[in-house]
Amino acid sequence: MLQINPGFFFRIFAMVSAVQKHISKRSFQIIFSKESSPCIDVGRLQQDNSIVARVRIDDMLSKHFAIIGSTGTGKSCTVALVLQAILKENPAGHVVLFDPHNEYSKSFGDRAEVITGETLDLPLWMFDFVETVELLTSDIEDQAREEEEILNDVILMAKRLFDRSMSRSDTSAQVKLDDVEMELQRATHISLDSPVPYRIRDVVKLIDHEMGKLENSSNLQPYKRLKRRIQSLIADPRYAFIFRNQAKPRPLEETIGRIFRLPVNGKPISILDFSSIPSETLNVVVSVVSRLAFELATWSQRKIPILLVCEEAHRYIPRDVTQGFHSTRRIISRIAKEGRKYGVSLGIISQRPSELEPSTLSQCSTIFSMRLSNEIDQKFVRAAVPDGAAELLTFLPSLGTAETMVFGEAVNLPMRVLLNNLPEEYRPHSSSASFTDLWARDTSTPQMMEQVYSSWKTRTHKDSDATSARHPAQRRAVDEPELTLAQRVAAAPSLQQADADAAPRSTGSEVRQLLNAAFHREN
Ligand SMILES: Nc1ncnc2c1ncn2[C@@H]1O[C@H](COP(=O)(O)OP(=O)(O)OP(=O)(O)O)[C@@H](O)[C@H]1O
Ligand SMILES: [Mg+2]
Repeated sequence: MLQINPGFFFRIFAMVSAVQKHISKRSFQIIFSKESSPCIDVGRLQQDNSIVARVRIDDMLSKHFAIIGSTGTGKSCTVALVLQAILKENPAGHVVLFDPHNEYSKSFGDRAEVITGETLDLPLWMFDFVETVELLTSDIEDQAREEEEILNDVILMAKRLFDRSMSRSDTSAQVKLDDVEMELQRATHISLDSPVPYRIRDVVKLIDHEMGKLENSSNLQPYKRLKRRIQSLIADPRYAFIFRNQAKPRPLEETIGRIFRLPVNGKPISILDFSSIPSETLNVVVSVVSRLAFELATWSQRKIPILLVCEEAHRYIPRDVTQGFHSTRRIISRIAKEGRKYGVSLGIISQRPSELEPSTLSQCSTIFSMRLSNEIDQKFVRAAVPDGAAELLTFLPSLGTAETMVFGEAVNLPMRVLLNNLPEEYRPHSSSASFTDLWARDTSTPQMMEQVYSSWKTRTHKDSDATSARHPAQRRAVDEPELTLAQRVAAAPSLQQADADAAPRSTGSEVRQLLNAAFHREN
């Protein structure tokens, strides 16, 4: 029996020549069947379908991966296939899947926590200042700069006001600002970056207060613009996930615990369904969640490895800097470069690799490339794979659906794979409408159209299951009488009730300590 480390030997070989047709069947078996580290089976080799195509999990996750291919080639099915296989072996994982089109809600059955715009709770105080500015200020640069300066002052004051209200019986809304202004100026233990909750109504009140102090009325414009923008966001139901629960901010552990599955509670993946979130906000939401993942991983000192899967990544990590998305680009590039050291991994999914921020793709050490017909996109893949594998890229335009080339760290040799069949019930929803079905008869009944127009006018999706699908914590907030913050913190579903299945590395008390350290900087 040949005693070699196939991984090392054949990766070198791959760099020299990846022309698999010169390799005998016996060699194929040695290359692809010998594995000592944990692997998932993704399919069969195209050249010889008796040989299982294996991908090493740790190599794939620790150094990021990408799944790219033209539309309809099977990227989303591959995401579901790969994640299902990984989570089957690793039931206490922490995966967050950004799902802009609500494709994946059925793909993982009851092993996924599906979070929609209706049930997401991502309060403004969890945004850092850059993210807050991106959300609240104008698109016009000069105007945004003026508004940013105002925000700088009023957010700091709003945080101090909230902190003051916590230590006294008065709520911040009742306080007369003139009476406490000096006191707030002196509260230097709270800075702009302190992760302290604040209320948006206090921000509006403080803007009014600052306006009242102005002597020259020609300087009022930026204040008025800012106030108008904030008020229109608050009134827009699509932004409710940022502004709900203002009266009693939800404890940090609840929001973080739900998104990042701490404890896992039998659901190692959370699917963030962004289909009802305005596309101009997608940027800031992805940025906030990714930054929270990075902070959590950093402060947990690698004890909580997290995988962030970015579907349609070119939409919010674009190559073109003029498209904006600064805060997302900033955090995703940081994770791409440094995430490995802290245990935060990226899965980048895109049909347009040429439109993706280039350094992010080049940091992906394992690439699944499905059929790619566009030459510019092929060029980007060519730049991202090892030299020896470039020859195989000539196959890219002719690959079939559910067929992929796999290159990089997680495989011994670049391989052409016929992917396993994903059962119909787990396939991500196809986004294309069936014209022939829907045009066979008139389906637009008056009731249906009433529903459509009502949703359109109120800018909310009227989902009949919405109430039952709501997160228990949210149902409670709607149905129960108001509690004080202290009572709510005490009553919050304790993270200490870690599920027996959860990973021992993330028990409730450990998580609570980590979160406190992370967000209150008590390392
Ligand atoms: N592994 C698979 N098993 C079963 N069917 C598959 C598989 N891969 C692809 N398909 C078929 O191909 C269709 C398209 O796949 P999928 O939706 O994953 O493509 P996509 O590349 O994500 O498309 P888009 O770019 O539009 O998001 C699926 O609806 C399914 O019928
Ligand atoms: Mg897809």
